Amino acid sequence: MRFSSISSLLISAGFLAVATPASSQSPFPVPSAESLPLEEGREELLRGCNLCHPIMAMLGQQRTEPEWRGVVDAMRGRGAKVTDEEATRITQYLAKHFAPGMPVRRGAGRMPGGRTFVLGGRPPDAEPVIGSPLETRDPVGANQKPAFAGQTRAPAVRTRTPVEAKIVARGLNHPWALAFLPKGRMLITEKPGAMRVLSATGEVGAPIANVPKVLYRSDGGLLDLVIDPEFARNRQIYFAYSEPREGGSGLTLASARLSDDETALESVRVLLRIEPTHTSVSHFGCRLLFDKQGKLFMTSGERMDPAIRVQGRPRTSTRAWANYCA
Ligand code: HEC
Repeated sequence: MRFSSISSLLISAGFLAVATPASSQSPFPVPSAESLPLEEGREELLRGCNLCHPIMAMLGQQRTEPEWRGVVDAMRGRGAKVTDEEATRITQYLAKHFAPGMPVRRGAGRMPGGRTFVLGGRPPDAEPVIGSPLETRDPVGANQKPAFAGQTRAPAVRTRTPVEAKIVARGLNHPWALAFLPKGRMLITEKPGAMRVLSATGEVGAPIANVPKVLYRSDGGLLDLVIDPEFARNRQIYFAYSEPREGGSGLTLASARLSDDETALESVRVLLRIEPTHTSVSHFGCRLLFDKQGKLFMTSGERMDPAIRVQGRPRTSTRAWANYCA
């Protein structure tokens, strides 16, 4: 086998926020949880809805009761651990205090067309100002401090590299990863579970046979893909996917040989299963990368698990988060 070792880095694809110097005021300040009226439902909201994102940053929104019910149900689908009764109390609380027509809070997060953004940062489509900090969010956690001054204050820059965007292929189903094969052809993964070859001129090939079954749900699916540095000689590829397992799912790394006619994977082998198997359908990872010594690196996610996610590295980009929400 070509590569000699696999390293797994724990990263957080999560929404942990990092404190920022108090001097840089955001135009959309996150209100403190103390501003929430002390009524039934508040406690459940702060306990059940604060794990994956700071809930206070999500409450620039105004919705009707059925709409809030829809949000709460969607969040339960994403893994929010609240009982039926708690979900009802949270819905009623939100519907009462964050209803359409109520006095709009500063920075209320509804964009034209119904898109939303979180409090504490710029609206997603605001133009960055070159030279000014990209991240302008206020601290959201009581004990969060930057590791060094200015950590979350990197200025916006304009790239000097000219970039030309050109559409190569259309009609792909959630393409996730791309690796260049010899002669300008491309091997791609589609998140629902297909792998295909694209010609250099963009003709889309049929699904390649023998790709293992993947869990295609939420963040899960057929994910990253790299070809062996010596692919021209050995035709080896490495790919990772959300593997359906007894009791849940997990990120799995496999290798295979791409058949000479490029219609099938041969000798598919599982190389690494990230444990534990988890019921969450979020934050699997993953990126694959060969270094110059031929070692393969893989990143794995924290599966939105409260115990694991605090071990991950915080993500600092409000912009990415806001866009994700929109
Ligand atoms: C398991 C993680 C998790 C928990 C717990 C969670 N959320 Fe979310 N929430 C997400 C993710 C991921 C998104 C962004 C993607 C999306 O909109 O589905 C999100 C987005 C949102 C949004 C903005 C999206 C929109 O449609 O406007 C609101 C509002 C929200 N959550 C409210 C809540 C409430 C209320 C609760 C408690 C019942 C909650 N969240 C608990 C993961 C979570």
